[in-house]
Amino acid sequence: MQREQIRAKLAAAAPAIAPSILLCDYTQLAQEISSLEQAGARLLHLDVMDGHFVPNFTFGMTIVEAARRSTDLPLDVHLMMDNPGRYLRQFREAGADVITVHEEVCHDQSELADLVAEIRDLGALSGVAINPPTPLESIDKVVTDCDLILCMSVMPGFGGQEFNPVALEKLAALRDRDDVTAFLEVDGGVNHDTIADCTQAGANMLVVGSAISSGADYNERFAELERLIK
Ligand code: DX5
Ligand code: ZN
Repeated sequence: MQREQIRAKLAAAAPAIAPSILLCDYTQLAQEISSLEQAGARLLHLDVMDGHFVPNFTFGMTIVEAARRSTDLPLDVHLMMDNPGRYLRQFREAGADVITVHEEVCHDQSELADLVAEIRDLGALSGVAINPPTPLESIDKVVTDCDLILCMSVMPGFGGQEFNPVALEKLAALRDRDDVTAFLEVDGGVNHDTIADCTQAGANMLVVGSAISSGADYNERFAELERLIK
């Protein structure tokens, strides 16, 4: 998919739940993805962890590519890794539609701006993520021209952590700016108790891991969450 098509699909879905496949059964990846799609998912969130920037490993482009062959949904790839610039092209070629990099892995804002430009040149939507302690000012240089801003509501690394409301302040500040056109995403601890606060603060992409995948019935869990945001 090309940028305009990806953007149009996300805009049509927003506010949208982006289920993370982090906790799914990888022996049944295609079936898991199909269950999420049937439950109502309009995009999928894929958590790439490198065991260095975050204290956990997940997967790389092989699983992104397998997910790509399993679905036509937009793939929102969250790179929790050092030196992401080295792999952007490979993630795009594997089928990533949104590629999000962390501010914390960059030496300065120029490096972040270069990554954003590179993602855009590859034809994907460019996302920028900030951890709970990272202030919004640290993305000043890209805030008006990236396609998605991800405010982390946990320290990244593991599913099932408790929601940190510092993300809500950042989302609200971004929502209130006329010059910010990016999708506003929140990730970590988003569940039945926290999701409505997130949309009220301005989030329109809601990453959900354990609140969907720890239950047997994706349909019911997805529908309950959707009721809380629509
Ligand atoms: C956090 C990941 C998240 C995670 C969310 O390190 O980036 O996408 O899967 O999981 P929950 O919703 O369980 O916090
Ligand atoms: Zn994530």
